[in-house]
Amino acid sequence: MRNRVQVMHGVNLDQIGRRDPEHYGDLTFAQLEQRIDAFAHELGLDARFFQTNSEGEFVEHLHRVVDVADALLVNAGAWTHYSYAIHDALEFAGLPAVEVHLSDVQAREQWRRHSVLAPACITVISGKGPDGYREALAALKAELEA
Ligand code: DQA
Repeated sequence: MRNRVQVMHGVNLDQIGRRDPEHYGDLTFAQLEQRIDAFAHELGLDARFFQTNSEGEFVEHLHRVVDVADALLVNAGAWTHYSYAIHDALEFAGLPAVEVHLSDVQAREQWRRHSVLAPACITVISGKGPDGYREALAALKAELEA
């Protein structure tokens, strides 16, 4: 059964709950992961979690992720906007991926409006808070069942 989704959070996401609640809400990171896990369960998906503030570790996890997952849900934080290394590692991983952002990146600073990761993803979901993760999981489920 292809239902393993690797949820990958990047730089500074572990600090939500202490970051600006106007953009990121007031859930702690542990609470966000619990919420995502519950969404996954409802959809019959098996979510696994990874977070790092080190770009190299994020890339290295993508190098080996094909052995433990069928799809990727990625919120790479600020790396989204400039890390060609993560773009290339996502391509290398070769798994269906959805990019998610808690905040509405299109409505914030100019530099957040561009994602260098989006070309390696099926779709981008932003500005829907934790519910965006449910939408992302549903999109991955549809892709895995296609
Ligand atoms: C973010 C948006 C990014 O621009 C920002 O750097 C983050 C979080 C989001 O989830 O809204 O750290 O990815």
